[in-house]
Amino acid sequence: MAVTYLLEYMEQNKTAAYFSLLADKIIFNPDEKGVWNKLNRNIPNSKRRRSYPAVKVGRLAVNEDYSGQGLGTFILDNIKYAFSNVKRLGCRFITVDALKTAVPFYERNGFQCITESDKDDETRLMFFDLKNFITE
Ligand SMILES: CC(C)(COP(=O)(O)OP(=O)(O)OC[C@H]1O[C@@H](n2cnc3c(N)ncnc32)[C@H](O)[C@@H]1OP(=O)(O)O)[C@@H](O)C(=O)NCCC(=O)NCCS
Repeated sequence: MAVTYLLEYMEQNKTAAYFSLLADKIIFNPDEKGVWNKLNRNIPNSKRRRSYPAVKVGRLAVNEDYSGQGLGTFILDNIKYAFSNVKRLGCRFITVDALKTAVPFYERNGFQCITESDKDDETRLMFFDLKNFITE
């Protein structure tokens, strides 16, 4: 179940961007221990789990009229802030099934591919560790 948010440019009566968020989790896969090591890198041994709560960016799109102006990054920064510093919900990672064409955009925003097993697919599963965004 997802919640969708619209960013409206009221003066021009246009939708500038939209995105949706849903609850997710990253679960340990014994066949991909390298992946798990990557995810656990910043987590002390005593706090390591077999799964971690996450928030998934289900859809994110910026109206072409406003692309390349930092709006996509602004949206991701606000999601990072909302789920790290505001702490309304205990959550360690942001995940996204990124369209292949959008992978460089997410990489510029600090996301990493989780696995190599989807490298030939249309979308790639990526994550961002919210620990990297805590400013307090
Ligand atoms: C991908 C998308 C959300 C980016 O939004 P945006 O507002 O244009 O992105 P920003 O202006 O914040 O760009 C941030 C950086 O990423 C780069 N970037 C953005 N889209 C990129 C792409 N498709 N490929 C490579 N780099 C990209 C920008 O050049 C910019 O780099 P800079 O920091 O060096 O200037 C937008 O292009 C879009 O809606 N695309 C179509 C739908 C889509 O692919 N959504 C993602 C599905 S998971």
